[in-house]
Amino acid sequence: MQAWDQALYGEKGFYRQAAGPAGHFSTAAQGVPQIGEQLARGLLTLMDREGLDTFVDMGCGRGELLEQVHRLAPQIRCIGVDIVSRPALSKPVGWLQSPGGERLPDELAALTGTLVFANEWLDVVPCPIAEIDASGELREVLVDASTGEEQLGDPVCGADRQWCQRFWPVDHCVPGGRVEIGQPRDSAWDNLVSRLGSGLAIAVDYGHTIGSRPGPGTLTGFRQGRQVMPVPDGSCDLTAHVAMDSLTHDELVDQRTALRQVGVSGRIPPNDLARTNPAAYLQGLGAASAAAALTTRGGLGDFLWAFTRAR
Ligand SMILES: C[S@@+](CC[C@H](N)C(=O)[O-])C[C@H]1O[C@@H](n2cnc3c(N)ncnc32)[C@H](O)[C@@H]1O
Repeated sequence: MQAWDQALYGEKGFYRQAAGPAGHFSTAAQGVPQIGEQLARGLLTLMDREGLDTFVDMGCGRGELLEQVHRLAPQIRCIGVDIVSRPALSKPVGWLQSPGGERLPDELAALTGTLVFANEWLDVVPCPIAEIDASGELREVLVDASTGEEQLGDPVCGADRQWCQRFWPVDHCVPGGRVEIGQPRDSAWDNLVSRLGSGLAIAVDYGHTIGSRPGPGTLTGFRQGRQVMPVPDGSCDLTAHVAMDSLTHDELVDQRTALRQVGVSGRIPPNDLARTNPAAYLQGLGAASAAAALTTRGGLGDFLWAFTRAR
Protein backbone atom coordinates (compact mmCIF):
# COMPACT_ATOMS: atom_id res chain seq x y z
CA MET A 1 0.00 0.00 0.00
CA GLN A 2 2.86 2.40 0.80
CA ALA A 3 4.52 1.52 -2.53
CA TRP A 4 1.24 2.20 -4.34
CA ASP A 5 0.81 5.54 -2.57
CA GLN A 6 4.37 6.63 -3.32
CA ALA A 7 4.09 5.55 -6.96
CA LEU A 8 1.03 7.72 -7.56
CA TYR A 9 1.43 10.65 -5.13
CA GLY A 10 5.10 10.76 -4.15
CA GLU A 11 7.42 13.52 -5.33
CA LYS A 12 7.76 11.87 -8.74
CA GLY A 13 4.37 10.20 -8.58
CA PHE A 14 2.46 9.23 -11.68
CA TYR A 15 -0.34 11.73 -11.03
CA ARG A 16 2.12 14.63 -10.81
CA GLN A 17 2.99 14.30 -14.50
CA ALA A 18 2.09 17.34 -16.61
CA ALA A 19 0.01 15.14 -18.94
CA GLY A 20 -2.49 14.45 -16.13
CA PRO A 21 -4.83 11.46 -16.22
CA ALA A 22 -6.11 12.41 -19.70
CA GLY A 23 -2.61 11.75 -21.07
CA HIS A 24 -3.01 8.06 -20.19
CA PHE A 25 -6.67 7.09 -20.23
CA SER A 26 -10.15 8.44 -20.91
CA THR A 27 -12.91 8.86 -18.38
CA ALA A 28 -16.49 10.04 -18.65
CA ALA A 29 -15.28 13.47 -17.52
CA GLN A 30 -12.45 14.06 -19.95
CA GLY A 31 -12.24 11.59 -22.86
CA VAL A 32 -14.73 12.99 -25.36
CA PRO A 33 -15.96 16.55 -24.67
CA GLN A 34 -19.56 15.75 -25.70
CA ILE A 35 -19.66 12.94 -23.14
CA GLY A 36 -18.32 15.22 -20.41
CA GLU A 37 -20.94 17.78 -21.38
CA GLN A 38 -23.80 15.29 -20.99
CA LEU A 39 -22.42 14.25 -17.61
CA ALA A 40 -22.21 17.91 -16.57
CA ARG A 41 -25.80 18.50 -17.74
CA GLY A 42 -27.03 15.57 -15.67
CA LEU A 43 -25.19 16.81 -12.59
CA LEU A 44 -26.60 20.30 -13.03
CA THR A 45 -30.12 18.89 -13.23
CA LEU A 46 -29.47 17.03 -9.99
CA MET A 47 -28.05 20.16 -8.32
CA ASP A 48 -31.07 22.16 -9.41
CA ARG A 49 -33.43 19.56 -7.95
CA GLU A 50 -31.50 19.48 -4.70
CA GLY A 51 -31.12 23.26 -4.48
CA LEU A 52 -27.30 23.12 -4.47
CA ASP A 53 -25.13 26.01 -5.65
CA THR A 54 -21.55 24.73 -5.24
CA PHE A 55 -19.88 21.99 -7.24
CA VAL A 56 -16.74 20.35 -5.86
CA ASP A 57 -14.94 17.98 -8.21
CA MET A 58 -12.87 15.70 -5.99
CA GLY A 59 -9.83 14.22 -7.77
CA CYS A 60 -10.70 16.32 -10.82
CA GLY A 61 -7.64 15.64 -12.99
CA ARG A 62 -6.95 18.91 -14.77
CA GLY A 63 -10.46 20.29 -14.28
CA GLU A 64 -12.08 19.11 -17.50
CA LEU A 65 -15.52 18.46 -15.96
CA LEU A 66 -15.35 21.67 -13.92
CA GLU A 67 -14.94 23.66 -17.11
CA GLN A 68 -18.00 21.98 -18.59
CA VAL A 69 -20.07 22.75 -15.49
CA HIS A 70 -18.82 26.34 -15.41
CA ARG A 71 -19.55 26.90 -19.09
CA LEU A 72 -23.10 25.53 -18.82
CA ALA A 73 -23.90 27.23 -15.50
CA PRO A 74 -21.55 30.12 -14.70
CA GLN A 75 -23.65 30.99 -11.62
CA ILE A 76 -22.53 27.76 -9.92
CA ARG A 77 -19.47 28.05 -7.69
CA CYS A 78 -16.96 25.47 -8.92
CA ILE A 79 -13.99 24.12 -6.98
CA GLY A 80 -11.51 21.52 -8.17
CA VAL A 81 -9.43 19.34 -5.85
CA ASP A 82 -6.39 17.48 -7.09
CA ILE A 83 -2.74 16.94 -6.17
CA VAL A 84 -1.17 19.39 -8.61
CA SER A 85 -1.21 23.17 -8.49
CA ARG A 86 -4.05 24.94 -10.27
CA PRO A 87 -3.96 24.35 -14.02
CA ALA A 88 -5.07 27.04 -16.51
CA LEU A 89 -8.82 27.16 -15.91
CA SER A 90 -11.51 29.81 -16.28
CA LYS A 91 -10.87 32.51 -13.71
CA PRO A 92 -13.88 31.92 -11.42
CA VAL A 93 -13.09 28.22 -11.00
CA GLY A 94 -11.55 27.64 -7.55
CA TRP A 95 -8.86 25.09 -6.76
CA LEU A 96 -7.51 23.23 -3.73
CA GLN A 97 -4.26 21.31 -3.87
CA SER A 98 -4.41 18.01 -2.05
CA PRO A 99 -1.77 15.62 -0.67
CA GLY A 100 -3.34 12.69 -2.57
CA GLY A 101 -4.57 9.18 -1.92
CA GLU A 102 -6.63 8.93 1.24
CA ARG A 103 -5.47 12.35 2.49
CA LEU A 104 -7.47 15.54 1.93
CA PRO A 105 -6.52 19.22 2.15
CA ASP A 106 -7.50 20.95 5.43
CA GLU A 107 -9.10 23.82 3.47
CA LEU A 108 -11.70 21.45 2.10
CA ALA A 109 -14.13 22.04 4.96
CA ALA A 110 -17.57 23.34 5.99
CA LEU A 111 -19.03 22.92 2.52
CA THR A 112 -22.68 23.95 2.39
CA GLY A 113 -25.21 23.61 -0.40
CA THR A 114 -22.64 21.53 -2.22
CA LEU A 115 -22.48 18.61 -4.60
CA VAL A 116 -19.18 16.80 -4.08
CA PHE A 117 -18.55 14.59 -7.09
CA ALA A 118 -15.72 12.05 -7.06
CA ASN A 119 -15.43 10.35 -10.44
CA GLU A 120 -12.83 7.57 -10.45
CA TRP A 121 -11.12 8.83 -7.30
CA LEU A 122 -11.48 5.88 -4.94
CA ASP A 123 -10.06 3.30 -7.37
CA VAL A 124 -6.73 5.14 -7.11
CA VAL A 125 -6.81 5.42 -3.32
CA PRO A 126 -4.30 2.71 -2.38
CA CYS A 127 -5.57 -0.23 -0.38
CA PRO A 128 -3.93 -3.32 1.08
CA ILE A 129 -4.06 -6.42 -1.07
CA ALA A 130 -4.28 -9.84 0.49
CA GLU A 131 -4.04 -13.35 -0.89
CA ILE A 132 -4.94 -16.78 0.43
CA ASP A 133 -1.83 -18.91 0.82
CA ALA A 134 -1.49 -22.65 0.31
CA SER A 135 -2.61 -23.35 3.88
CA GLY A 136 -5.75 -21.21 3.57
CA GLU A 137 -4.40 -18.19 5.50
CA LEU A 138 -5.17 -14.71 4.18
CA ARG A 139 -1.86 -12.82 4.00
CA GLU A 140 -0.89 -9.33 2.96
CA VAL A 141 0.75 -9.11 -0.49
CA LEU A 142 4.11 -7.28 -0.43
CA VAL A 143 5.61 -5.88 -3.60
CA ASP A 144 9.07 -4.91 -4.82
CA ALA A 145 8.59 -1.31 -5.99
CA SER A 146 11.09 -1.53 -8.82
CA THR A 147 10.13 -4.89 -10.35
CA GLY A 148 6.55 -5.45 -9.22
CA GLU A 149 7.57 -8.87 -7.91
CA GLU A 150 5.25 -10.01 -5.15
CA GLN A 151 5.57 -12.12 -2.01
CA LEU A 152 3.24 -12.88 0.84
CA GLY A 153 3.72 -11.18 4.20
CA ASP A 154 1.96 -11.44 7.57
CA PRO A 155 -1.59 -12.70 8.03
CA VAL A 156 -4.18 -9.96 7.70
CA CYS A 157 -5.31 -8.84 11.15
CA GLY A 158 -7.12 -6.09 13.06
CA ALA A 159 -9.45 -3.68 11.27
CA ASP A 160 -8.44 -5.05 7.87
CA ARG A 161 -9.40 -8.58 8.86
CA GLN A 162 -12.71 -7.36 10.26
CA TRP A 163 -13.36 -5.52 7.00
CA CYS A 164 -12.74 -8.73 5.03
CA GLN A 165 -15.01 -10.77 7.28
CA ARG A 166 -17.80 -8.25 6.85
CA PHE A 167 -17.46 -7.19 3.25
CA TRP A 168 -15.34 -9.70 1.35
CA PRO A 169 -15.64 -13.16 2.92
CA VAL A 170 -13.27 -15.50 1.12
CA ASP A 171 -13.19 -19.20 0.44
CA HIS A 172 -10.06 -20.22 2.35
CA CYS A 173 -9.87 -23.39 0.28
CA VAL A 174 -8.94 -21.43 -2.85
CA PRO A 175 -5.22 -20.54 -2.67
CA GLY A 176 -4.43 -17.52 -4.83
CA GLY A 177 -7.82 -15.90 -4.19
CA ARG A 178 -7.38 -12.20 -3.51
CA VAL A 179 -9.01 -9.45 -1.50
CA GLU A 180 -8.57 -5.74 -2.15
CA ILE A 181 -9.25 -4.45 1.32
CA GLY A 182 -11.51 -1.41 1.02
CA GLN A 183 -10.99 -0.10 4.54
CA PRO A 184 -8.78 2.93 3.55
CA ARG A 185 -11.24 3.85 0.82
CA ASP A 186 -14.16 3.71 3.26
CA SER A 187 -12.22 5.99 5.64
CA ALA A 188 -11.26 8.38 2.86
CA TRP A 189 -14.90 8.57 1.78
CA ASP A 190 -16.10 9.18 5.36
CA ASN A 191 -13.48 11.90 5.71
CA LEU A 192 -14.68 13.57 2.51
CA VAL A 193 -18.34 13.37 3.54
CA SER A 194 -17.42 14.84 6.95
CA ARG A 195 -16.35 18.04 5.14
CA LEU A 196 -19.91 18.49 3.92
CA GLY A 197 -22.16 20.66 6.13
CA SER A 198 -25.12 20.32 3.78
CA GLY A 199 -25.60 18.76 0.39
CA LEU A 200 -24.71 15.55 -1.32
CA ALA A 201 -21.56 13.55 -2.10
CA ILE A 202 -21.39 11.05 -4.96
CA ALA A 203 -18.64 8.50 -5.49
CA VAL A 204 -18.60 7.06 -9.00
CA ASP A 205 -16.38 4.15 -9.90
CA TYR A 206 -16.01 0.80 -11.50
CA GLY A 207 -16.70 -1.50 -8.65
CA HIS A 208 -18.48 -4.45 -7.19
CA THR A 209 -20.84 -5.39 -4.41
CA ILE A 210 -20.88 -8.33 -2.04
CA GLY A 211 -22.54 -10.70 -4.48
CA SER A 212 -19.99 -10.06 -7.22
CA ARG A 213 -16.51 -9.73 -5.70
CA PRO A 214 -13.76 -10.49 -8.23
CA GLY A 215 -12.01 -13.67 -6.99
CA PRO A 216 -8.55 -13.03 -8.47
CA GLY A 217 -8.62 -9.29 -7.68
CA THR A 218 -8.48 -6.38 -10.11
CA LEU A 219 -5.23 -4.50 -9.45
CA THR A 220 -3.78 -3.32 -12.75
CA GLY A 221 -1.73 -0.59 -14.37
CA PHE A 222 -2.35 1.86 -17.21
CA ARG A 223 0.10 3.83 -19.27
CA GLN A 224 -0.60 5.84 -22.41
CA GLY A 225 -3.90 4.14 -23.08
CA ARG A 226 -2.58 0.61 -22.55
CA GLN A 227 -3.10 -1.84 -19.73
CA VAL A 228 0.28 -2.75 -18.22
CA MET A 229 1.72 -4.74 -15.30
CA PRO A 230 1.02 -2.87 -12.05
CA VAL A 231 4.62 -2.05 -11.13
CA PRO A 232 4.62 0.66 -8.41
CA ASP A 233 7.56 2.64 -9.83
CA GLY A 234 5.68 5.82 -10.80
CA SER A 235 5.59 5.00 -14.50
CA CYS A 236 1.95 3.92 -14.68
CA ASP A 237 -1.43 4.36 -13.05
CA LEU A 238 -2.28 1.75 -10.41
CA THR A 239 -5.92 1.03 -9.91
CA ALA A 240 -8.20 -1.55 -8.35
CA HIS A 241 -11.99 -1.73 -8.54
CA VAL A 242 -13.89 -0.36 -5.56
CA ALA A 243 -16.05 -2.28 -3.10
CA MET A 244 -18.80 0.30 -3.52
CA ASP A 245 -21.24 -1.22 -1.03
CA SER A 246 -18.81 -0.89 1.88
CA LEU A 247 -18.76 2.91 1.47
CA THR A 248 -21.12 4.81 3.73
CA HIS A 249 -24.04 5.52 1.42
CA ASP A 250 -27.75 6.26 1.26
CA GLU A 251 -28.27 4.90 -2.22
CA LEU A 252 -26.23 2.78 -4.62
CA VAL A 253 -27.25 2.48 -8.26
CA ASP A 254 -25.55 1.94 -11.60
CA GLN A 255 -24.64 4.93 -13.75
CA ARG A 256 -27.35 4.08 -16.27
CA THR A 257 -30.02 4.43 -13.61
CA ALA A 258 -28.44 7.49 -11.99
CA LEU A 259 -28.16 9.40 -15.25
CA ARG A 260 -31.58 8.45 -16.57
CA GLN A 261 -33.06 9.88 -13.39
CA VAL A 262 -31.57 13.26 -14.34
CA GLY A 263 -32.62 13.19 -17.98
CA VAL A 264 -29.48 11.77 -19.64
CA SER A 265 -31.25 9.20 -21.73
CA GLY A 266 -29.73 8.73 -25.19
CA ARG A 267 -33.11 9.33 -26.85
CA ILE A 268 -32.60 10.34 -30.47
CA PRO A 269 -34.38 13.49 -31.72
CA PRO A 270 -37.56 13.11 -33.83
CA ASN A 271 -36.98 12.64 -37.59
CA ASP A 272 -39.07 15.71 -38.37
CA LEU A 273 -36.45 17.91 -36.75
CA ALA A 274 -33.94 16.91 -39.46
CA ARG A 275 -36.17 18.74 -41.97
CA THR A 276 -37.30 21.71 -39.89
CA ASN A 277 -34.03 22.40 -38.06
CA PRO A 278 -31.09 20.32 -39.32
CA ALA A 279 -28.58 21.97 -36.99
CA ALA A 280 -30.68 21.18 -33.91
CA TYR A 281 -31.20 17.64 -35.22
CA LEU A 282 -27.46 17.07 -35.57
CA GLN A 283 -26.85 18.54 -32.14
CA GLY A 284 -29.53 16.25 -30.71
CA LEU A 285 -27.94 13.24 -32.36
CA GLY A 286 -24.54 14.14 -30.88
CA ALA A 287 -26.07 14.52 -27.41
CA ALA A 288 -27.91 11.21 -27.77
CA SER A 289 -24.79 9.32 -28.77
CA ALA A 290 -22.83 10.85 -25.86
CA ALA A 291 -25.62 9.91 -23.46
CA ALA A 292 -25.67 6.39 -24.91
CA ALA A 293 -21.92 6.08 -24.25
CA LEU A 294 -22.44 7.16 -20.62
CA THR A 295 -25.20 4.64 -20.03
CA THR A 296 -24.14 1.68 -22.15
CA ARG A 297 -24.17 -1.87 -20.77
CA GLY A 298 -20.73 -3.43 -20.53
CA GLY A 299 -19.22 0.08 -20.43
CA LEU A 300 -19.62 3.32 -18.50
CA GLY A 301 -23.26 2.54 -17.74
CA ASP A 302 -22.14 -0.24 -15.38
CA PHE A 303 -20.18 2.13 -13.14
CA LEU A 304 -21.69 2.42 -9.67
CA TRP A 305 -22.84 5.65 -8.03
CA ALA A 306 -22.86 5.82 -4.21
CA PHE A 307 -24.96 8.77 -3.02
CA THR A 308 -24.26 10.03 0.49
CA ARG A 309 -26.08 12.94 2.08
CA ALA A 310 -24.34 15.25 4.54
CA ARG A 311 -24.53 13.55 7.92
C1 LIG B 1 -8.48 8.29 -12.28
S1 LIG B 1 -8.17 9.99 -12.16
C2 LIG B 1 -9.80 10.66 -12.42
C3 LIG B 1 -9.79 12.10 -12.81
C4 LIG B 1 -11.16 12.72 -13.06
N1 LIG B 1 -11.99 12.66 -11.89
C5 LIG B 1 -11.83 12.06 -14.22
O1 LIG B 1 -12.86 11.38 -14.00
O2 LIG B 1 -11.36 12.21 -15.34
C6 LIG B 1 -7.95 10.17 -10.41
C7 LIG B 1 -7.57 11.54 -9.97
O3 LIG B 1 -7.69 11.61 -8.55
C8 LIG B 1 -6.63 12.41 -8.06
N2 LIG B 1 -6.49 12.17 -6.62
C9 LIG B 1 -6.12 11.05 -6.00
N3 LIG B 1 -6.14 11.22 -4.66
C10 LIG B 1 -6.53 12.49 -4.44
C11 LIG B 1 -6.74 13.26 -3.27
N4 LIG B 1 -6.61 12.76 -2.03
N5 LIG B 1 -7.12 14.54 -3.42
C12 LIG B 1 -7.30 15.05 -4.64
N6 LIG B 1 -7.11 14.38 -5.79
C13 LIG B 1 -6.74 13.10 -5.69
C14 LIG B 1 -5.46 12.01 -8.93
O4 LIG B 1 -4.41 12.93 -8.85
C15 LIG B 1 -6.14 11.93 -10.30
O5 LIG B 1 -6.11 13.15 -10.97
